[in-house]
Amino acid sequence: MSANLTEIGEKLLAWYDIHARQLPWRVGPDALRAGFQPDAYEVWLAEIMLQQTTVATVKDYYTRFTQKWPTVQALAAASEDDILKQWAGLGYYSRARNLKKCADTIVSEHGGQFPADLFKLRALPGIGDYTAAAIASIAFGIPAPVVDGNVERVFSRLFTIDTPLPKAKAEIRERVNDVLTKERPGDFAQACMDLGATICTPKKPACMHCPVRLDCTVLGVQDPERFPVKPPKKEKPNRVGAAYVIVNEKGQILLAKRTSTGLLANMTQVPTTDWNSRKDGMTDIGGAPIKNARWMRSGQIEHVFTHFSLTLTVWKTEVAKSQFTPADGQWWAPIATLQGEALPTVMKKVIAHALPDAKLRG
Ligand code: ADE
Repeated sequence: MSANLTEIGEKLLAWYDIHARQLPWRVGPDALRAGFQPDAYEVWLAEIMLQQTTVATVKDYYTRFTQKWPTVQALAAASEDDILKQWAGLGYYSRARNLKKCADTIVSEHGGQFPADLFKLRALPGIGDYTAAAIASIAFGIPAPVVDGNVERVFSRLFTIDTPLPKAKAEIRERVNDVLTKERPGDFAQACMDLGATICTPKKPACMHCPVRLDCTVLGVQDPERFPVKPPKKEKPNRVGAAYVIVNEKGQILLAKRTSTGLLANMTQVPTTDWNSRKDGMTDIGGAPIKNARWMRSGQIEHVFTHFSLTLTVWKTEVAKSQFTPADGQWWAPIATLQGEALPTVMKKVIAHALPDAKLRG
């Protein structure tokens, strides 16, 4: 390896020694040197949560999860429903379902210990290249290229990688491999992430504070904000549908469980019409589960999913509990305890719109 590449790694680590963010799941560089070991379960949980989600949002979820389920054994003993309830609001719910599958596998096939092996980690449910490399390096000190969005930005700028994503990933991974310090792979990975989050930001990077500004081939030559080069944006279709908020005189709301496949599988919702990324649902009261009620139109909410955006017309009515029997998969839930339900953000928006006083987390 050329001296220059080794130096980049060393500069990043020296910067991290001073500027590492204190994060609930992190064993910082001083503690690591003092002999504290990161817990693989905690590293795994944080890394799964941090995919697609910001550090600020993850902190509270991470703390609640580790208080409720301090070990992988405890998480494996939990039901998928309970995990979805705790996950509600974080989005990308397949992550939560895989969390349960992975915990089960660790307990049943790995004696309750995460394997200290990149390929065995990669074979676990919900663990892709990124997460396997992150756990290997952070929890076990195994050198592996950890490439998330922050690292893509830092390295595409450092080495002026002009290829658009996702094609650029292979080249970025090679470059990370070149620079990676074999002695402190976990600190190196987290140094790159912290640099990307605090200095080498998407907009207005603070290049003057960057520890590797003298090594950066973009700086002073091209606009750093252009990197990483992104593929052309696909237009998202806008879908419509209706959601029905039904409350009774006991302060309860009618909830329903979504089907076990597809978008928001197994999550909780109020009754809605049948919309998805490919088709619209009815928007009027023609799709309501109760026909002979006085429906009031509360208004509309918007929600953006990965592949489409959705406008839901929110309808509301009140019925006497004795007048309506919930169908299979439906139940009355006290409005006062909705925080404990597995409501995705789109449903929190619906309920908050119809019932502004309801207490909803997230
Ligand atoms: N983003 C993803 N993983 C992270 C980590 N371990 N530290 C900081 N930011 C991250």
